[in-house]
Amino acid sequence: MKLVRKIALRTMVGAAFALAAGTSAFAQGKPVTLGFSQVGAESAWRTANTVSVKAAAKDAGINLKFSDAQQKQENQIRAIRSFIAQKVDVIAFSPVVESGWEPVLEEAKRAKIPVVLTDRAIDVKDPSLYVTMIGSDFMEEGRRAGHWLEERYKNEPGPINIAELQGTVGSAPANDRHAGLMEVIKSDPKFKVIASQSGDFTLAGGKQVMEAFAKTYGKKINVVYAHNDDMALGAIQAMEEAGIKPGKDVTVVSFDATKGGFQAMVDGKINVDVECSPLLGPQLMAAVKDIVAGKPVARRIVTDEGIFPMNVAAQVMPSRKY
Ligand code: AHR
Repeated sequence: MKLVRKIALRTMVGAAFALAAGTSAFAQGKPVTLGFSQVGAESAWRTANTVSVKAAAKDAGINLKFSDAQQKQENQIRAIRSFIAQKVDVIAFSPVVESGWEPVLEEAKRAKIPVVLTDRAIDVKDPSLYVTMIGSDFMEEGRRAGHWLEERYKNEPGPINIAELQGTVGSAPANDRHAGLMEVIKSDPKFKVIASQSGDFTLAGGKQVMEAFAKTYGKKINVVYAHNDDMALGAIQAMEEAGIKPGKDVTVVSFDATKGGFQAMVDGKINVDVECSPLLGPQLMAAVKDIVAGKPVARRIVTDEGIFPMNVAAQVMPSRKY
C-alpha cells in the first residue's frame, strides 16, 4: 500500500531545468542545497511530513533550508523569494492554497531554479513553472470516502444529512476532497450536504465549527465528513460535549489515517479513515537529486494509499508509522 508509482509521463520541462541546475552544485561536486517552504504545523499529518522531509534530506546528504509559513501564503512567497536570493539549487514547497503563484514562480524560472511541488497542487496556466508534483490524489481520496458512504447507507432510504468540516479555504485537499465526494454522491439524492464550513485543518477549528453545527442541526446530522483527523478529533470532542455519540449517533468520516485517527477508530468514534501519507521526504530527495543530475523526472508522482474502516483499526494500528 505504501509503494509509490510513477506516472510514465516524462517531462522535457524537468530536463530543461535540470540542465540549468546541473551546471551548479552537481557539476561542481558540492552538496545540493534545497529550499523547502512548509505550510505550517497545523496537524499531526504536517508534523509527520516535516519530520520525513528533514530526515530524508539528512539521509540524502542534501543541505536543507527549511521555512515554516504558518499557514500564510504571503510567508511562503517571502520564503521562495529568499531562496531565490540565496541561489539555492532547487526550491520545493507545499502550497497553502492553489492560486496566486505565477509571479513568484516566474521569478524562480528567470533565476533558473527548478521548483518541485510536494503534497498540494497549484493552479497555474504555464506548466513550465514547476518540474514535478509529488503527493496524494485528493480527488480520489474524496471518491473513496463517497463510495464507502454509498455502501454504508445502501439499505437506508435517507435523507442522509452530511455536515462537512472543510480544510483550509482554497487549498487543494479541501477543494478536491469536497469535489471527490460530490462527484460520487450527486447521483443519489438521498445524500445531502446540509452544512459546510472550514476548520482550517486544526483540532481547535474542527471543534469550534462542530459546536456551531451541533447547535444549529443537532440530531439531524447523520454524517460528519471531516477533511482531516485533527478536525475530526475536535468534532468528536464537540459532539461528546453536546451529548452526541460520535461513531454511533453520527457516522464520522475522516482523512489522513494518523495514529490519532486510528486510536479514535479503535475507540469506536471514527467510522472510516481515508489514508493520506505524509511520508514524502524520500521521494522528494530522489527527485531533487535527479533534477540536479540532469535526469528527467516524472511530471506527477502519486502516493499510493488506501482506506481503513474502523473494524480493521486495532489490527492495522501497530504498523502505522505516523
Ligand atoms: O495537504 C495535506 C493535508 O494538510 C492533510 O490532510 C492535513 O492534515 C494537512 O494539514
